[in-house]
Amino acid sequence: MSTANSIAPKLAPPFPKGKHWLFGHAMYLKNRTVETITDFADTYGDLVSLAFPFNKVVIATNPEYARYILVDNNKNYHKSLAYDVLKLMLGNGLLTSEGDFWKQQRKLIQPAFHKQKLAALTKMMSDTSAALAQKFEHYAISGVYTDMLPEMTTVTLDIISKAIFSSGIDDKKAEYIGQQILALNEMAIERLNDPFKLPPVFPTAFNHKWKKIVANLDAIIYEIINQRRNEGVSKDDLLSMLLDARDEDTGEAMDNKQLRDEVMTIFLAGNETSANALTWMLYLLSQNPEAEEKMICEIDGKLDAGVELTFDNVLQFQYVRMVIDESMRLFPPAWSVGRRNYEDDTLGGYHIQKGTNVLIPIIYYHRSEKYWDEPLKFKPERFAPEVRNKIDRFVYFPFGGGPRLCIGNNFALIEMQLILIQLYRKFRFRLKPGFQVDMEPLITLKPKDGLMMKVERR
Ligand code: HEM
Repeated sequence: MSTANSIAPKLAPPFPKGKHWLFGHAMYLKNRTVETITDFADTYGDLVSLAFPFNKVVIATNPEYARYILVDNNKNYHKSLAYDVLKLMLGNGLLTSEGDFWKQQRKLIQPAFHKQKLAALTKMMSDTSAALAQKFEHYAISGVYTDMLPEMTTVTLDIISKAIFSSGIDDKKAEYIGQQILALNEMAIERLNDPFKLPPVFPTAFNHKWKKIVANLDAIIYEIINQRRNEGVSKDDLLSMLLDARDEDTGEAMDNKQLRDEVMTIFLAGNETSANALTWMLYLLSQNPEAEEKMICEIDGKLDAGVELTFDNVLQFQYVRMVIDESMRLFPPAWSVGRRNYEDDTLGGYHIQKGTNVLIPIIYYHRSEKYWDEPLKFKPERFAPEVRNKIDRFVYFPFGGGPRLCIGNNFALIEMQLILIQLYRKFRFRLKPGFQVDMEPLITLKPKDGLMMKVERR
């Protein structure tokens, strides 16, 4: 750890053996990202340097380092390389902005996620989830195998768009947006893994495609913003809050571009992560019938006793919450966060040169034998209320930590609880026999080829 008067040794963290002459270690990260990171950390220790063209990269896999970078010394760290790529689609929204500008935007947007605002959204979330369950009746009758990833994307997109714009968007548009976001996500990773990809100003086929997708999404968002401006009526949703927000000092409102960046950010951050998380939950529950049964018992018990799905009551569904926590341990949707230091630093006795991208692979922490007993087993009991507060804040941190903690964490938790309750009160989900489930760590962690499942009426 750095202290003001310590003399920084000039030794960089160790480099793993063997690297491509041009791409360095980027080659290894391209295909088996999580396995490679795990292998490097287990072999070379909790700080590992990577050779990367044009960039200094270090992987940090110790909770003390995560705490130091994200909390204690967060002022020396800003967002890393991956966020530069995200910036190309999200602009200067909450996830990608920095410094005083970020602080001011966070202050403006935070009230939209306060408890009473979330409580007001609970009914909408519950009704939207119930509508999904209604749609699933058809799948249950037909008995076809269906990919659950687009289904979870549609429902979370519907919920987030109702939270932002009051009214939802029709299924076709939601599906279209989901596809465009996924395409951008895949291209973002392609850009990240290929340091020789030319920046967007160059007229390459890749850049042309990228710009077209961004323009398509922009068109939808600007259309909605303009429509609201023309209506001139304030509604009880996030868009009106953003439109009505005024800078404390100047009294100025956000311009259309900033509005677009914030809306696009919340749209992306608030949909993909939850959709992936839910898809992994359906998978894990299908593989762990005992936990599935316990969860169903809790849901039936409470609903049969007449418990209504209000904001406060949802918190009573403790086992559902434990399932969610444990699923996000094994498959954290934001599988990694990264920071870059403004000034030289010292970490674990090593010198971290200014401008180093420090990767904090949350998934490694969540799955390491150092911190978990039988880490690859699905055991929701790890998160039972009486033991969960013994878990280190930086051994389990699916929503990140420090000042840049996910602003939508409670939104996501209540949304996922409601969706699970509405689905499992009627159904179970069964994996297609022989279907291969693999992780694909894009910006978020998705199942590589989706998740083919049969919906069964309970
Ligand atoms: C399971 C669901 C979710 C997970 C796992 C998740 C995870 C995360 C993580 C790890 C970060 C921190 C990134 C960093 O430190 O670099 C983050 C930030 C953020 N998340 Fe989430 N998120 C989820 C859902 C949501 C939802 C539902 C929303 C909005 C409705 C949202 C909006 C944001 C925003 C705006 C930020 C940036 C906050 C800032 O820097 O001030 N997220 N999220």
